[in-house]
Amino acid sequence: MTDKDFLWNSLIEEYDNKYFAKSDWHLGYSIILNELPDLENKIVLDFGCGTGKFSRVLSKLNAKVYSYDKSINAINIANMKTNNKNILFSNEFNFKEKFDYIFVNYVFCCMHSNDLAFNLNNLYNYLKFDGKIIILDPHPDSLGKKYISFYRQKPERVISNALIKTNLNGMIEFYDYWHSKEDYETILINSGFKIDKIIEPLAKGDNWLDEKQYPPNIIYIVSKTKE
Ligand SMILES: C[S@@+](CC[C@H](N)C(=O)[O-])C[C@H]1O[C@@H](n2cnc3c(N)ncnc32)[C@H](O)[C@@H]1O
Repeated sequence: MTDKDFLWNSLIEEYDNKYFAKSDWHLGYSIILNELPDLENKIVLDFGCGTGKFSRVLSKLNAKVYSYDKSINAINIANMKTNNKNILFSNEFNFKEKFDYIFVNYVFCCMHSNDLAFNLNNLYNYLKFDGKIIILDPHPDSLGKKYISFYRQKPERVISNALIKTNLNGMIEFYDYWHSKEDYETILINSGFKIDKIIEPLAKGDNWLDEKQYPPNIIYIVSKTKE
């Protein structure tokens, strides 16, 4: 197990218990759900599913859900919390299916860009030709902004793969990786994808801080260029 794997294996219980992020739901998951067609009978993969909160939403939409996470603790908690035969949680990346949709929520920010490229190349083979990958990550410009749900400290030098001290409300601090928009775009295109849409959701109304002006999240919807 690498240091990074160990980190999320040990953080996951705290993430599940303590981190209820309003911005993840309002400016992340729900925006993704609005982009989706009817998922009935669609086969989907929740890659880096954590303890399965988004997987459970997908299963309520009648998708056949496969959920994978490297962390065995995440999969154990996900199984304990889930009573739904439409979801299969797994700690092993070993699928016979090709997927209509692959969701990657707040996972690529946990990876060095070399791992990001490796994983995107792998996921390419598991996506149907007319399928889509939807990636949700903290926005590259979110550093130093005051958000209600999280704070990502801006380091002195903001360069690709810079380690970012991250504070999710209620949790101990940990480090994520920083990727620029150009990094995402280059890696996606080099892995054979085309970018169909980029969404940078802003908040409206009271009870928000910098979310009204600076999007806390970025969403990429991408598809394959060849079989
Ligand atoms: C911030 S959590 C997000 C969990 C979930 N997707 C969500 O939206 O709540 C990041 C998750 O990515 C997982 N992860 C990190 N690197 C991974 C990899 N290479 N393969 C699979 N899962 C990975 C971690 O174990 C952790 O559960």
